[in-house]
Amino acid sequence: ENFVLKFKVVLLGSSAVGKSSLVLRLCDNKFSETKESTIGAAFQNCSLDVGDTKVKLQIWDTAGQERYNSLTSMYYRGAKGAIIVFDCSNNDSFISAQNWVDEIRSKSSSNVKIIFVVNKTDLPQFKVDREEIEKFVNKNNLIFIETSAKTGLGVLELFSDLAIEMSEE
Ligand code: GTP
Ligand code: MG
Repeated sequence: ENFVLKFKVVLLGSSAVGKSSLVLRLCDNKFSETKESTIGAAFQNCSLDVGDTKVKLQIWDTAGQERYNSLTSMYYRGAKGAIIVFDCSNNDSFISAQNWVDEIRSKSSSNVKIIFVVNKTDLPQFKVDREEIEKFVNKNNLIFIETSAKTGLGVLELFSDLAIEMSEE
């Protein structure tokens, strides 16, 4: 490999949308039906190859439970990438994800790269209105990816796309 790049990445979104499960799928290629809710935040290093470049991600997986919200700014401070996740079967989580986009855009560095993610797409019920998602994504000029931490669909693509975005400029 020719280069090694290192980036701080944060995962945001309400509780139980599958943030920790996405990290578990990327780093260990595993899935747990009984993943315990994160307390505070969890840190993990994970590497992936993007072409000839080895990219080391320093991942801060935040806790989505409401009571931790006041702490979350500590974890996204200085992040080069933000993964904002919601659950396709839960409209409240979509609303919460929109608020995270606004918060990151207003409080974080202007060149933070955001990926907007709908997870749990293996479930039979996609309850969030797809037109609403499309409208929000277009209006905010976001990269949007559909994932399932359960099947692995879109997970590598998610982190690779973010790595590519962060590597630019
Ligand atoms: P907090 O740590 O509380 O913020 O939650 P989280 O966003 O980290 O969610 P977590 O990864 O703990 O997943 C919550 C639940 O959803 C667990 O029971 C997972 O097994 C389940 N889950 C996560 N991803 C998927 C998915 O892609 N599909 C399905 N069907 N279930 C999922
Ligand atoms: Mg978690």
